[in-house]
Amino acid sequence: MFLGIDVGTGGTRALLVDRRGLVVASAASEHAAIRSKHIGWAEQDPEDWWRAAREAISGVMVAAELAGAEIQAIALTGQMHGCVMLGAEGEVLRPALIWCDQRTQPECDWLEEKIGRERLIELTCNPALPNFTLTKLLWVRTHQPEIFAKIAHVLCPKDYVRYRLTGEFAIDMQEASGTLLLDVTNRRWSNEVADAAGIPMSWLPRLFEGPEICARVGGAGAGATGLAAGTPVAAGAGDQGAGAVGMGIVGAGSVSATIGTSGVVFAATDKPTMDRLGRLHTFCHAAPGLWHVMGVTNGAGLSLRWFRDTFAPGVGYDELSADAAKIPAGSDGLLWAPYLFGERTPHLDPQARAAFVGLTASHTRAHCVRAVMEGVAFSLRDTFSLFAELAIPVARIRLGGGGARGSLWRQIQADVYGRAVQLLAAEEGGAFGAALLAGVGFGAWGSVEAACAETVHVAEVIEPKNAIAMDDAYAKFRRVYPALREIGRT
Ligand code: XUL
Repeated sequence: MFLGIDVGTGGTRALLVDRRGLVVASAASEHAAIRSKHIGWAEQDPEDWWRAAREAISGVMVAAELAGAEIQAIALTGQMHGCVMLGAEGEVLRPALIWCDQRTQPECDWLEEKIGRERLIELTCNPALPNFTLTKLLWVRTHQPEIFAKIAHVLCPKDYVRYRLTGEFAIDMQEASGTLLLDVTNRRWSNEVADAAGIPMSWLPRLFEGPEICARVGGAGAGATGLAAGTPVAAGAGDQGAGAVGMGIVGAGSVSATIGTSGVVFAATDKPTMDRLGRLHTFCHAAPGLWHVMGVTNGAGLSLRWFRDTFAPGVGYDELSADAAKIPAGSDGLLWAPYLFGERTPHLDPQARAAFVGLTASHTRAHCVRAVMEGVAFSLRDTFSLFAELAIPVARIRLGGGGARGSLWRQIQADVYGRAVQLLAAEEGGAFGAALLAGVGFGAWGSVEAACAETVHVAEVIEPKNAIAMDDAYAKFRRVYPALREIGRT
């Protein structure tokens, strides 16, 4: 039995998977809300992740009626890029700045000035973006030097939970790629970037490939969770890497489109494919010897949630979708630009703002819901447009996350991408991929690719029905961001 633990943004989930890749049980515990003292700030308390992880882990063992000793290996996954700062005794020095925190544009500018944007992309395969861990560390240096002076260790969110479970400071290659401190091409920390940024290498955790066993549950971790001391812990991967493993995206041509809070189009590649303009992220994959590219829409599921909470509080997503399904493709000319949290791909603009464009008195709430779903899909299509530009092959597209669960958003995606999309028999997100990585580390499967081949199955293929109408609407969508940017600058 293998345990995947997903330290997400909204909560932590623990999932038990057996040797055949079947889900045996799962349990989850919510996190406290994101703290946002100023617009664009986002912080969470690492101790709260550990509380939620303890609850989810003991919960899943109760649900499966299982003793800790029956779990053969564990792996972690979770929200990426967050910056957890610890003192010499392993104490948390301040709340973590998490992935969607947008405050660090000045630090990004400083870093690109110091290293040179092109050189930084050469070294790390990526430009400086406010999402990435290093820029958050630099913000603390500028604004809270008394805290910076006490730092002895820097970790990402799931790796903090690993530290509490095992006492080890460890990270996997895929997660490390999102810190902006990794030499992604050579799969090792970049001395040059750390030196230029003034970050001691001793602060960085040890690096492992995703399925490598990097630690064992310690006495304190076992006491807090019910796991058995000595249980092996594989490195795992960030949520996007582990999610891709769980969807079988482990060979060139394999692509996923996942709509969670953020939306991600992810392609596995057999070498690091860099965008010299930095519009896509180029990271190591969770499978050794593979890399991946991905484009990220910050406000994907978040757009629909924001719309519901703001304009239809208490109304279920099913009801909203059923109404929206009666509206024609293209939402009668209404467009949604989903930039509620700035935007990454392709605009790299933390200041971008969201908008409905083209409202008339005839538009209803149902039009708005459909337009929101279409706008998110258009934004993901921007990543497919970049893939085409960079000759990144797309042989098959698999859908994941909330965007794969409802029939309307699935169909909209097939229509907007203009291609058939595949649904999987079991789509369990990052925790499932993490459990597979644990199984590979334990030796149940010979490789990540073999684990996927044995356990990931396509259940349904959805063909596009309205591709031409959506092509037309996409052409209009492409003109919205430049216009919004102009308004923002006057
Ligand atoms: C990936 C990213 C998000 C977070 C939160 O680059 O920022 O997917 O990992 O889920």
